[in-house]
This record gives sequence, C-alpha cells and structure tokens, in this order.
Amino acid sequence: MGVEIAPWQAPPASLLIGTGDLHLWRFRTDISARTADTLRQSLSADECARADRFINPRHQLRFIAARYRLRRTLAGYLKYLPASIVFTNSQQGKPSLGKEHRSDINFNLSHSGDWAVLAVTSGPDVGVDVEEIVVKDNVQPLTDYAFNEVEKTLFSAFPPARKQRGFYRLWTAKEARLKMLGIGLGEMKKEIMPGFGCFFVPAKGYVAAVAVTCQVARIIRYHDAMN
Ligand SMILES: CC(C)(COP(=O)(O)OP(=O)(O)OC[C@H]1O[C@@H](n2cnc3c(N)ncnc32)[C@H](O)[C@@H]1OP(=O)(O)O)[C@@H](O)C(=O)NCCC(=O)NCCS
Repeated sequence: MGVEIAPWQAPPASLLIGTGDLHLWRFRTDISARTADTLRQSLSADECARADRFINPRHQLRFIAARYRLRRTLAGYLKYLPASIVFTNSQQGKPSLGKEHRSDINFNLSHSGDWAVLAVTSGPDVGVDVEEIVVKDNVQPLTDYAFNEVEKTLFSAFPPARKQRGFYRLWTAKEARLKMLGIGLGEMKKEIMPGFGCFFVPAKGYVAAVAVTCQVARIIRYHDAMN
C-alpha cells in the first residue's frame, strides 16, 4: 500500500507519535514469577484481581507481563508513571485512556503464546490481533463459523499447502478489524471495510494484523526487551 514500514528497533528514550503515524510494539510475556511480583505493583486492583482469576499460572504471568508493558509504554508517551495510567473500558471491554489524561492516543493490545503486540496511534481507532501459528485440524468449521462470503472465497483460493497460513491471515485481519471497532468475536461475520490494514510478523511462528480507521503515513515498529 506504499506505506513505509521501519524494521523492529529499540524505542527512543523519549516517545512521540505524530499525526499519521502508527506505532507497533512487540514484547515477550514469558516472565518469571519473581518478575511478575514486581510488575504487579504497577497494576490496578482490578488488574491484580483479573490476574488472580487465572487458573493456569503461565496465563497469569502472561497477563501481568502484557498489562504492565501496556502501562509502561503508554506512560512513555504520556510522561507518566505506569501505575498512574487510568483506563476506561467500553461496554464490550475495549480499554482506552481515561479522560483525565486529555490525550488523543488510541491503542489496542493483543497477546498469544509468549508474545504480546500493541498498536498505538495519535487519534484514529486501532485494532490489533496476534496469533501463534498452531496447526489446526478444524480450520474449515472455523471458517464456516467466522467468515463471510467474501472471506470464504478468499480462503478457498489458497492452495492446500497454504490453507493454514491463509486461515491465520484472514482470521487476524478480521479480528483486528473487529477490535478496531471495539466489538466482539460474536460479530465475526460482519463486513467491515477498514481505512488501512496490514500484516506483520512479530516473531517466528506468529502472525499479526493491524487495522486503523484511516490510512496511515508511516509505521514504526518497536521491540522493547524486558529489563
Ligand atoms: C475482544 C476480543 C475479540 C479479544 O479476543 P482474544 O483473541 O481473546 O484476545 P486478544 O489477545 O487479541 O485481545 C485481548 C485484549 O484486547 C483488548 N480488548 C478487550 N475487549 C476488547 C474489545 N471489545 N475490542 C477491542 N479490544 C478489546 C484488551 O486490551 C485485551 O487485553 P487484556 O485481556 O489484557 O485486557 C474478545 O475478547 C471478544 O470477543 N470480546 C468481546 C466480549 C464481549 O462482547 N463482552 C461484552 C460485555 S463485557
């Protein structure tokens, strides 16, 4: 689509996002229990309660890592402390910055396996989805459930050897668009024409897609290693 996409790079010390920019972040979420104990001090009481509801300890660690990274990254743009970030959730659960921040920054987070991705814009609504590629033997029923006629036609055009990858591409693009609008997976069959959408690969074995309500001019990708 002619948009300049920078390679993954370390973030600058001072974060700024310009009009027309889309920032994509990737972080690992496979942290130790000890690290999680430290990071959860920056989470809200609600987030800690959510973390405590995970039965699988690995899922709990991933959740804490992703929410901390979300806070820390937004804190970088807003020049706040991670613990001071206030979120508000839409009726369908899409988080955005609380009004007290008086900021145009929009964001969306997704996690799968050991990775999380975060998309940030300076205004337009954004949705992102990452999926770890796991060979599925039920792609056909899933496509019947989730895809509309146009997407089913696109899926059927993939040769057998590329069906799995094709499924993940269509799925992530779809979920990113739903998340851009802040609606749930229950509305999978809806047809949504995004202003802008693209795929990216956050790590080997993962695929991700982002959707933004309008065309972006530039995509900058940041890799924030845990420290
Ligand atoms: C949004 C949704 C598609 C995400 O699915 P998923 O593949 O499990 O998760 P992802 O990792 O891609 O995204 C999760 C993140 O998206 C964000 N999110 C949550 N709800 C969202 C929504 N409706 N739209 C956009 N983003 C949303 C959150 O940041 C969440 O991260 P968190 O779990 O750390 O809070 C799915 O949860 C859904 O269908 N939600 C709608 C539920 C609903 O209808 N609720 C009604 C009343 S609560």
